[in-house]
Amino acid sequence: MQTKRLCPAIGTEIVGVDLSNPVSDETFEQVRKVWHESNGLVVIRDQKLTEEQQIAFSRKFGKLHTLQGHTVTKYLHPDHPEIYRVSNKVVDGKPQGRKGAGTYWHSDQSYEATPAHASVLYAKEIPPVGGDTIFASTQRAYEALSDTFKAFLLPLKAVHSFANASGGGFRNEVVTKEQLDAAPPSVHPIIRKHAETGKLGVFVNPGFTAYIDGLDPAESRAVLGYLFELVTKPDYQYRHRWSHNDMVIWDNRCTLHYAVMDYDGKGDRLMHRCTVIGETPLPATA
Ligand code: OGA
Ligand code: MN
Repeated sequence: MQTKRLCPAIGTEIVGVDLSNPVSDETFEQVRKVWHESNGLVVIRDQKLTEEQQIAFSRKFGKLHTLQGHTVTKYLHPDHPEIYRVSNKVVDGKPQGRKGAGTYWHSDQSYEATPAHASVLYAKEIPPVGGDTIFASTQRAYEALSDTFKAFLLPLKAVHSFANASGGGFRNEVVTKEQLDAAPPSVHPIIRKHAETGKLGVFVNPGFTAYIDGLDPAESRAVLGYLFELVTKPDYQYRHRWSHNDMVIWDNRCTLHYAVMDYDGKGDRLMHRCTVIGETPLPATA
């Protein structure tokens, strides 16, 4: 197994692993170690995987989310509910996945009580050009804060909502009242401690974070405005240009991502995502 750092802030490419064989516990632990050391982003190219193999590999991180009752339930793989499909393809009038998923900065399912931990995204079809995904390290963002501001943020919690008006939970989607009721907002610490590495990160995102609990609305807007600017700074980013059969694994506890929608009408894109359910976000004091 060889590794190649992709960016100083975030991301490592791993070469020489085949995820199609049942991956041994030892190899998996090596991958997980690199993942943690790279601030939560690993790229493994040229993987030829069946749905079952992607699911089996993803399960090594933990229990998979099947997104039942969620607005995207209709985009799950018909034979494998563990696979959520992101795609702009329409075949015989039927969308092959959620079009325009994640075209805003977010952390997967941050509006849930136990947000996603790992997301394992596999490129089945890629347009000739475009359709990149940008990733950012929220731990690097945290490190950039002054001690005084870190201390101010330490006890604060933010409300994350799927229905966040400023973001995009249901952008381009028709959402029913039942679906909204099934996705109530959650309150999470702004400074989140990573359960495995103990590293601290800024756990807010423009897509789903609605306001800071206990602040005046104008104060909340000002503080979140600054934090959103910080966590989306190019200095903490890596932009992935996909190739067919790429596998990218990110850690939603310490990264944000943004799907660039620049290819519609210019090519087909089809991605398969497995989502691992995470833990209740830990405060810095945990
Ligand atoms: C996701 C997502 C990014 C992309 O699957 O969670 O945000 O580039 N997709 O498709
Ligand atoms: Mn996403």
